[in-house]
Amino acid sequence: MKNNISIIILAAGKGTRMKSSLPKVLHKISGKEMLYYSIKEAQKLSDDIHVVLYHQADLVQKEMEKYFSDINFTIQDHENYPGTGGAVMGMDLKYDKTLVLNGDMPLIQKSELENFLSDDNSAIVMSVLELDNANGYGRVIIEDNSVVKIVEQKDCNETELKVNIANAGIYCFDTKFLDENLPKLSNDNAQAEYYITDLVEIAIKDNKKVTPLTVDEENFKGVNSKIDLASAEMIHQNRIKNNFMAAGVIMRLPDTIYIDESVQIEGESIIENGVTLLGDTKIVNSHIKTNSVVEDSTLEDSDIGPMARIRPKSLLKDTHIGNFVEVKKSTLDGVKAGHLSYLGDSTIDTGTNIGAGTITCNYDGKNKFQTTIGKNVFIGSNTKLIAPITLEDNTMTAAGSTISKDLKSGELVITRSKPKIIKDYFYRFFGKK
Ligand code: UD1
Ligand code: MG
Repeated sequence: MKNNISIIILAAGKGTRMKSSLPKVLHKISGKEMLYYSIKEAQKLSDDIHVVLYHQADLVQKEMEKYFSDINFTIQDHENYPGTGGAVMGMDLKYDKTLVLNGDMPLIQKSELENFLSDDNSAIVMSVLELDNANGYGRVIIEDNSVVKIVEQKDCNETELKVNIANAGIYCFDTKFLDENLPKLSNDNAQAEYYITDLVEIAIKDNKKVTPLTVDEENFKGVNSKIDLASAEMIHQNRIKNNFMAAGVIMRLPDTIYIDESVQIEGESIIENGVTLLGDTKIVNSHIKTNSVVEDSTLEDSDIGPMARIRPKSLLKDTHIGNFVEVKKSTLDGVKAGHLSYLGDSTIDTGTNIGAGTITCNYDGKNKFQTTIGKNVFIGSNTKLIAPITLEDNTMTAAGSTISKDLKSGELVITRSKPKIIKDYFYRFFGKK
């Protein structure tokens, strides 16, 4: 059930510390942009979501609209009102309470966000982290057990820098308080920005209730640099893999496995060390051996690898794929391809064996062409299949053949040139030893 709450997600910042031309919130973890995760969790709680953009706003909006509809995108008046406070100005909010999230927090979870919604009489419920080292965060200044204010790192004096209670950057505001007090923010600080965090001091001076809520650092980790990005992804990967293992999937050395968040794994599946599973991949009752890569493909009752590569739009059923076999945009049902092959733009039917070194020659430099192989076909080692080509059921190709004509049921094709044997040539060339 959705709550009666508005949510603002801040995503207008440039992300200078990322040192990248890509907007910070579009950097990916586990295959999806950081902002995707904030919106996804927000959608579980609210039907009034506002995403604030500025830097490369069109690009960020376009990327997010691939996943979400019903989101309000607003552009911050960044020239006149930079900063996290400027970002929330001039919003048309639907509900009495407003939750503010940062777009650079890809690990947030709905269950923890719900804790911010239970308090009805606070002007602000704010998130607090108790850390060993609060470097990079705004510090929460507490006197006599009460919050006094938040001071940004760049504005901290020596004593404040030593404070290890940090602002996690998530707040639930009374919407009326927000509307009335945003105009009171000033930019008189080290960054000449309008800080949302200054609303805490304003509320306290006005005798309004500010409630600190201690949160788990792992879920509220702010990503500001590529180092933060890597450590957030590590946590996210562990979550993905632990969920699969809890559901019965076997993983060998899970720390060496990489799985995108969109991947599905079902049934009695085994994922060995070094495996990478990407995009819209679905693995059902299958065994993925060491160092194989699968992207945007479905595998059912199959085994692949070690070192196999299944590229997008492939469907493998009851199929065995061995080492150094690459499959692309192909449907293989009941097929064996044990070694060293490229099978692209092909359909291969049950009982068919693909010999080592077989290549579908699917590209003529301009266009891609289809290879169709029927049931119980025996493809000899090192066969080149020049597409478009169709091999009917129960056909054979001789090892080393280059095939450019279709085969009818029952036929064998051999395209070897006649062997020419020259007696004693070795001895003439190298001499007798
Ligand atoms: C902010 C908090 C800090 C807190 C930290 C937690 C402020 C002033 N500081 O600092 O107290 O410890 O988060 O991670 O709020 N953004 C805009 N418009 C802007 C500037 C930023 O939308 O003009 C967005 C960014 O895209 C980002 C979020 O606000 O998603 C936070 O901005 P960031 O620059 O990362 O703030 P921090 O320095 O991390
Ligand atoms: Mg930040």
